[in-house]
Amino acid sequence: MRVLIIGSGGREHALGWKIAQSAQLSQLYFAPGNPGCAHLGKCVDLPDLTSTLSFCQEQKIDLVVVGPEKPLVQGWCDHLRAAGIACFGPSKLAAQLEGSKAFAKKVMAETKIPTAKYQRFDAFDQACAYVKNHEFPLVVKADGLASGKGVTICQNEGEAVMALKEAMVDNRFGESGKVVVIEEFLVGREASFHVICDGKRGLALVAAQDHKALHDGNHGPNTGGMGTFAPSPFVTPEMEQVILEQIADPVFQYMAQQGSPFQGVLFIGLMLTWHGPKVLEFNVRFGDPETQVMMPLIESDLLPILYQSAQGQFEPDLDLKIADQRACVCVVCTAEGYPENPRSGDVIEPLPQNVEDGIVFHAGTQTNGEGKLVTAGGRVLGATAWRSDLDRARNAAYRLVEKVHFRGKYFRKDIGGHELNS
Ligand code: AMP
Ligand code: GLY
Repeated sequence: MRVLIIGSGGREHALGWKIAQSAQLSQLYFAPGNPGCAHLGKCVDLPDLTSTLSFCQEQKIDLVVVGPEKPLVQGWCDHLRAAGIACFGPSKLAAQLEGSKAFAKKVMAETKIPTAKYQRFDAFDQACAYVKNHEFPLVVKADGLASGKGVTICQNEGEAVMALKEAMVDNRFGESGKVVVIEEFLVGREASFHVICDGKRGLALVAAQDHKALHDGNHGPNTGGMGTFAPSPFVTPEMEQVILEQIADPVFQYMAQQGSPFQGVLFIGLMLTWHGPKVLEFNVRFGDPETQVMMPLIESDLLPILYQSAQGQFEPDLDLKIADQRACVCVVCTAEGYPENPRSGDVIEPLPQNVEDGIVFHAGTQTNGEGKLVTAGGRVLGATAWRSDLDRARNAAYRLVEKVHFRGKYFRKDIGGHELNS
């Protein structure tokens, strides 16, 4: 099979790493990929949908796997499918589950999926009047995509009005903030749960946990994710069943009824509350850096699963097998200045190669004019290791982090640790 992966982050390197192990793979391309991906396949520059469509036709691509949310929300999968190219990822309409928080909330309300209570507003005055009589904390969310910056947890009316003004009046998020969702603040532990669907049936991946805050102990500003571990010990097999039956299946049924069956992966951002798991958000793609810890724990060949999802029909006996007795930890190494103003161009010393039960996934890296590997983004590399349990995996991942050297390297010291002890 000839496969094209779209995207350039750690997620795409991890997906490519797993797909490259498939006996069914004949050629792997990345657009644009990164220097880590370049070890697995060819990196090509396809800046838009038109060039992607032509490339797929010329190169007889059998499957496109779309990594990031933006092309999904823009409807690339509809265009690729219309041109006869199998594409792993949902339609434009189904991608609204991530592209519009108001849409996601409406689907959850109609299908009675457990989530925070909410109100949708498109007028600043009305939103302000609502928060006046409300208890705090509460959460203000820009409706559309905002690169992970559209959510503000507000402790009082002043903060809420400020968040509403930024989104609705100052247009900090452009069109994405013209509509906002204001919702109840949920208390609990977070977990990331992914389900791959062929439009009808869901196959669950291993539950993971992200660490979004910049500093140890969950302090400091929010980031794209400083590290992950899986499996999450807080998502029990019984809870997985509840998540599938009360959250994933109703979403898949709803989208099928709308004439837009969900083909791709639904990433359910959960808060595990005293009243059971509740949805914080839906994403319609693999999480980053969740993918980096999920891929090494999948025993099945992933490629036929992605292909059959893209074709809209899993074989009846298709299963997604997760390794038991194995845990994985990914520690993200970030560039100086991340998240506000990450510095690029710092030389990365040669990385450990052929690590046993581990890999350093590339994310924000680049090869410079002199052929040297340099930093080229906030989240630079993800030191990832898997072992028979979480403690061993964490120790192995941190040993790998010590072998990563570049000026300004920063990482959290408590990935997969703090959450368990708190
Ligand atoms: P989202 O992009 O909706 O996942 O929000 C980003 C982060 O904000 C989540 O990972 C949570 O840490 C936090 N968050 C979002 N919604 C809520 C909520 N209703 N209650 C508490 N925290 C929330
Ligand atoms: N790790 C969170 C995300 O991918 O959105």
